[in-house]
Amino acid sequence: MNGNNSDIKKKIIDGKLIASEIELSISEKIVELKKQGIVPSIAVILVGENPASVVYVRNKERAAQRCGILSKKEIYPASFSEKSLLNKIEELNNDPLIHGILVQLPLPQHINEKKIMEAISPDKDVDGFHPLNVGKIFTENSPFYPCTPYGITKMLDYYDIPVKGKNCVIIGQSNIVGKPLAIMLMNRLATVASLNIFTKDVKSIASKADILISATGKAHLIGEEYVKDGAVVIDVGISNIDGKICGDVNFEKVVNKVSKITPVPGGVGPLTVAVLMENTVKSAIIKSGINTSIKNVLNNKK
Ligand code: GUN
Repeated sequence: MNGNNSDIKKKIIDGKLIASEIELSISEKIVELKKQGIVPSIAVILVGENPASVVYVRNKERAAQRCGILSKKEIYPASFSEKSLLNKIEELNNDPLIHGILVQLPLPQHINEKKIMEAISPDKDVDGFHPLNVGKIFTENSPFYPCTPYGITKMLDYYDIPVKGKNCVIIGQSNIVGKPLAIMLMNRLATVASLNIFTKDVKSIASKADILISATGKAHLIGEEYVKDGAVVIDVGISNIDGKICGDVNFEKVVNKVSKITPVPGGVGPLTVAVLMENTVKSAIIKSGINTSIKNVLNNKK
């Protein structure tokens, strides 16, 4: 890294800033909702003690508190049975005071994630993982878009980064990030390449990207030879190396080549959490049946 600090600063996609603006606008809406007796609420379920999941759940809980959303945290041991989890979800599906249900992934191996995602009522599926809502991404009418891809589209919009006609390369094809993001970028008429662990010559494909998104969880995988001059680089990875949080991208090595880049931490993470709050408020508004101007602020497109 040899650019000066202010040049580098201009390139940074400030996820924290965008997230705080989203949270502020949500908080204002929540004040209005509360005047009408509606308190948006989310149930967050954590099974087991995966250290990363513990941190993510805590971040979600704190964001809910900041916005004025009621969060009901349900923590169960790794031995919790699939049947018990399904019963819990059923109970929350039937609770009129709960607007959003989130089961933190990954789940312990004895629990079938697909079954769990399908058990969550699609109209409380603020994670956007129910197959019905996933299918609706195709037709751009999902009530809840998966939070990480949705947050990424918000970043692109915030900085007026054009997507139409651009080469977008997504490294990692998870159900949570890579696959839904590919469809969402295709919906915006990008040319999208989805890469996985069997992809040959990732470097040569990645280095043709106008927008490169890495979601592998492999710390510092992306060096300068993966990045085209002037590319936008979005880093979804979060790794802990010797107690230091870092992303998939070797920031120092690539920052001089890019036009924009997300830092880790402070990039994609805060936005993922903020749009989860937005989805929860949206659910509360839809469920309440109220038809006010607050609804307008919650559309999914720019
Ligand atoms: N694990 C990693 N990311 C996510 C997410 O966005 N939602 C849930 N439920 N689990 C996750």
